[in-house]
Amino acid sequence: KPYAIGVDVGGTNTVVGIVDKRGQILINGSIKTAKHTEVENYLDELTKLIDELISKITTKDQIKGIGAGTPNGNYFTGSIEFAPNLPWKGVIPFAQMLEDRTGIPVALTNDANAAAIGEMTYGAARGMKDFIVITLGTGVGSGIVVNGQMVYGNDGFAGELGHTIVRRENGRVCGCGRHGCLEAYASATGLARTAREILEKRPDAKTILRDIPAEEITSKDVFDAAMEGDEIAKEIFEYTGKILGESFADFVAFSSPEAIILFGGLSKAGDLIMDPIRKSMEENLLPIFQNKVKLLFSELKESDAAVLGASALGWEVR
Ligand code: BGC
Ligand code: NA
Ligand code: ZN
Repeated sequence: KPYAIGVDVGGTNTVVGIVDKRGQILINGSIKTAKHTEVENYLDELTKLIDELISKITTKDQIKGIGAGTPNGNYFTGSIEFAPNLPWKGVIPFAQMLEDRTGIPVALTNDANAAAIGEMTYGAARGMKDFIVITLGTGVGSGIVVNGQMVYGNDGFAGELGHTIVRRENGRVCGCGRHGCLEAYASATGLARTAREILEKRPDAKTILRDIPAEEITSKDVFDAAMEGDEIAKEIFEYTGKILGESFADFVAFSSPEAIILFGGLSKAGDLIMDPIRKSMEENLLPIFQNKVKLLFSELKESDAAVLGASALGWEVR
């Protein structure tokens, strides 16, 4: 069968692509994840989109399988067990539910793992055996590859690096219910939270961010302000990068990767985020690791790595 389907489930949007054996995305489409409070309605709309895309270029019997990457997706069970950044509660047998609706076999993995598989097969990690992909979006995710193998761990949940604790004193509350997780600082929402904190703590600090009601400030606003030279906005990126760099130094000690690859929304901030990360990582690395680890951006167009990586699982099903 000549085609596989990749599905990238994000907190905001879900992107679907039909992929051929050379890894070309032939057609794609998307739906809004966030508006569906019921997973059943969401899966109905997703199935409709998948059927539409298939009918535009081929027929169902030409599809080998569907691979889906989702926050907290478990490769072993095909379920999402606890996903604070998705609108649905409880354990969701996602792969089975989508398979029942589409009639096509479905395999599931974590969204950041899918991105790592995409980078390994088609992107910045081609030819690498040891690397870590960090996704900076609504949440912070990771895919860890060691000796050419995706690390799934004992239960299929390995690599939840966004929920490693970076602040033990007065740590921010995280969506997972704990305090001080990397995600609470370095996700897009974490960065906006830093902006609000700084504005509140330093009422005299001059910044164009004050033109926006504090509750409405987004990471995009901070990015735009920094691009215009706003000093406070730049400081917000520096603080975020510092925390990420400290974490990366720890991650390096864990698996000695050749590279750490940044992926997702916040990575679009480019050097604004990369320069402080690099500085802080090098300052915190064990000497044996210093000046060795590459920091790279995803080479694939936005969301393509996740769709392509997920589709790679689509070839493997059954
Ligand atoms: C979840 C991860 C996911 C990441 C990015 C985190 O909150 O725990 O499983 O990869 O968000 O979506
Ligand atoms: Na992961
Ligand atoms: Zn957490």
